[in-house]
Amino acid sequence: MIFFFNSMRTIDEQGYHFDEWLTPKEIAKDVQQVAKQISADYADKEPLFVVVLNGAFVFAADLLRALENVRCEVTFIRVSSYWGMSSTGQLEFIVPLQQVVDNRDVVIVEDIVDTGLTIHQLKAHLRGLGATSVRVASMLFKPNKLEYEDAKPDYVGHEITDEFVIGYGLDFDGFVRNLDAIYKVKE
Ligand code: IMP
Repeated sequence: MIFFFNSMRTIDEQGYHFDEWLTPKEIAKDVQQVAKQISADYADKEPLFVVVLNGAFVFAADLLRALENVRCEVTFIRVSSYWGMSSTGQLEFIVPLQQVVDNRDVVIVEDIVDTGLTIHQLKAHLRGLGATSVRVASMLFKPNKLEYEDAKPDYVGHEITDEFVIGYGLDFDGFVRNLDAIYKVKE
């Protein structure tokens, strides 16, 4: 249930309290800025966007429609490494890649880079399949938590400290992905 407190929206989910952190307007600004950078870098290429399900579907839908003059293809991969609020350290390929990436310029679209395990393993996977280049666009990035240097995203909507966030595709045990804003857990 969403509550309004001094015009700031708050959410209670599974016994935790979350405050609105990025409004839909602020998110749209971040998305535009990322789209602008990617449009400039890929104007003369035909990139393949690999959207990491489930979390990145909302960001990807907004980002890809905001690109200008980029002829591209989009495909999806589904992985999981999280349970509740923490990473299991193990990446599971639930829906594998169904597109040939050989000789392609690939851009992975991710919701959030936390430890970097997901991106670290995905990059190795895509390079192993023959991708020419692999870059990463992530809506959020937690630089303090990064454990894999090669997982640092090339394009970032917003940096965040260590807190757990939900909404705009990000879930809490499968729920609340459909929130239009990003909410931060209250300690
Ligand atoms: P990493 O492999 O540790 O970088 O974690 C990446 C994945 O963990 C993301 O794609 C998310 O699904 C999930 N994740 C990491 N931090 C959060 C968070 O704060 N909220 C929701 N999901 C998160």
